[in-house]
Amino acid sequence: MTTITVCTTCRQPSLREDRTLTPCGEAMLTHVQNAAAAHPGVTVRPVSCLMGCEHGCNIAISGPGKMTYVLGSFTPVPEDAAAIAEYAAKHAANPGGVVPYREWPQGVKGHFTARVPPLDEPPAL
Ligand code: FES
Repeated sequence: MTTITVCTTCRQPSLREDRTLTPCGEAMLTHVQNAAAAHPGVTVRPVSCLMGCEHGCNIAISGPGKMTYVLGSFTPVPEDAAAIAEYAAKHAANPGGVVPYREWPQGVKGHFTARVPPLDEPPAL
């Protein structure tokens, strides 16, 4: 199982100062939910802030015992959401959550900001 965590309070950098606008993260959540519906092993949850506010929209991809990835600088459009959901499906299919670069959807390339090993496992000695 893989979870896509979508920051719903993200604002795109060029629009961050205009607080009258709805955060782009809310639209991103809807697009990601729609895209993930095609992938049975993928769930979606909202969160307020992933601490990557300078480069919204931000999301994280994680699963029990798997590598976690944080990605940002997305645009809240169906095409970006589809790439995220496709990557998450590949993450779900891999026991360690590591997707070979050759399998990355084009739409996620250049968006990775962090890679975090499973935090629920003891460190290798
Ligand atoms: S508001 Fe989205 S990462 Fe902070």
